[in-house]
Amino acid sequence: MPTRADQSRTPYFDALQNYVQSGTVPFHTPGHKQGQGMHRRLRDFIGDNVLAIDLTQIRGLDDLNQPEGPIQEAHELAAAAYGADFSYFLVNGSTAGNQAMLMTALRPGDTVLLPRNSHKSAVSALIMSATRPVYMPPEVDRELLIDHCVTPETVSAFLHSNPQARAVFITSPTYYGATADLPAIERIVHESGKLLLVDEAWGPHLHFHPELPPSATSAGVDACVNSTHKLLAGMSQASMLHTRGERIDQGRLRSTLRLFQSTSPSLVLLASLDVARMQMATEGEQLLTATLALARDARPRLNAIPGIYCMGPEQVGRPGIAGYDETRMVITVKDIGYTGYEAEEILRMRYNVQVELADLFNVVALIAIGDTAESVNRLVTAVAELAREDRAIDMYAPTGLAQRRRQEGSYQLPRIPEQAVSPREAFLSEHVEIAFRNSAGRICAEMVTPYPPGIPILCPGERISKEIIDYVRLQLRAGARMQGPVDGRLRTIRVLAL
Ligand SMILES: Cc1ncc(COP(=O)(O)O)c(C=O)c1O
Repeated sequence: MPTRADQSRTPYFDALQNYVQSGTVPFHTPGHKQGQGMHRRLRDFIGDNVLAIDLTQIRGLDDLNQPEGPIQEAHELAAAAYGADFSYFLVNGSTAGNQAMLMTALRPGDTVLLPRNSHKSAVSALIMSATRPVYMPPEVDRELLIDHCVTPETVSAFLHSNPQARAVFITSPTYYGATADLPAIERIVHESGKLLLVDEAWGPHLHFHPELPPSATSAGVDACVNSTHKLLAGMSQASMLHTRGERIDQGRLRSTLRLFQSTSPSLVLLASLDVARMQMATEGEQLLTATLALARDARPRLNAIPGIYCMGPEQVGRPGIAGYDETRMVITVKDIGYTGYEAEEILRMRYNVQVELADLFNVVALIAIGDTAESVNRLVTAVAELAREDRAIDMYAPTGLAQRRRQEGSYQLPRIPEQAVSPREAFLSEHVEIAFRNSAGRICAEMVTPYPPGIPILCPGERISKEIIDYVRLQLRAGARMQGPVDGRLRTIRVLAL
């Protein structure tokens, strides 16, 4: 058998191609039979090749839920590439990875320490695992209104006051590109005998370039999750979970993954993971050098535009920013008189440029291995044009932001609400629907999450405060979309029946 070290191999993609070339007549799913039965409207657009490998897990093509053949080989190659002991392909994104990682590590009733700006997939794992969150406050940049990472000091203090915690869950990088001091956090967590789990959804590329912040696997964490589809060449939903050392029970992890993954995973997605790993392992450094060069060219040009700020590595060393992924372009537009939501829309409607994320003050653009000097120029030119537009600087007035700033001196993110009952109890109990504006004091039964970035403002079991109501209404007026509540406009909210 070829060695784990031969990273030019793509065993899973090869197995799919071999099946296609064998000319086998398929009496199995999917019913489109390698594209033959698919309507021309879609078939002609996506092409026959992708449909030819849209197969099912028949013998020889292995089983994601019980891998023994080419998927197992592809897993081993991924583990070697990422410096992990075990790697697993995921077809339901890092969402499934976070759920499986937390469900594997925790037992019902356990406490887990996690940053308040964790992704909603972590909160959904708390509901399913019947565990108790203790939220750690991330460091906040009040000027840009951005949450960064939690510091080692915060982790240490929370471990001290919550000695019963079984695991610490960290998000690094954040959506905004800041990374945590994982080597220091690893020492603290492991000296306390706890598990360290990392949501590295935004860092599948970190391991492959020395000028990017250290990856979670290189910092020695017990388990981490990467969204290969977010910044590498995995197709949407294609992610990986990696583990290191002995602390994660692999049998339990595999059983848990079987709870969350389809019995009919897309083999096209699995092939994209196999090839994305090969690409990174064989030419990742070169590709990422080119990507970094594009970002390093664009950042000063953006910062030269009057009124625009694009944060960068000068922020490293500030609390919660142990490292910074320079390929993330957080473009602050508040000083040109726009909310991020408005800027996103104008950039798309007027300049045909679509960013990844908008929030009150910023838009976030990703520069990745698929970008070119031309695409990045389009972004810089569009932002320059946007900044030139003649706009009065009181545009926050309709959202109430200008008034808040006058009252408070700086913008405030709401305090972490009181956890009145566990997320699971709140989610599964009897609910009633009431007017959101009158809900202060009631216990929330839903998750209220502006999406993107997917970080909940309210989680099930938390007591709703006036401060939270004001903040959510401000976000909605400014153009945020909320995910989670049955009523997406939040005229009403589901709370626990008294
Ligand atoms: C920090 C973080 N973790 C996890 C996820 C979930 O990843 P996926 O979309 O791959 O399910 C996201 C998605 O945006 C995220 O931002």
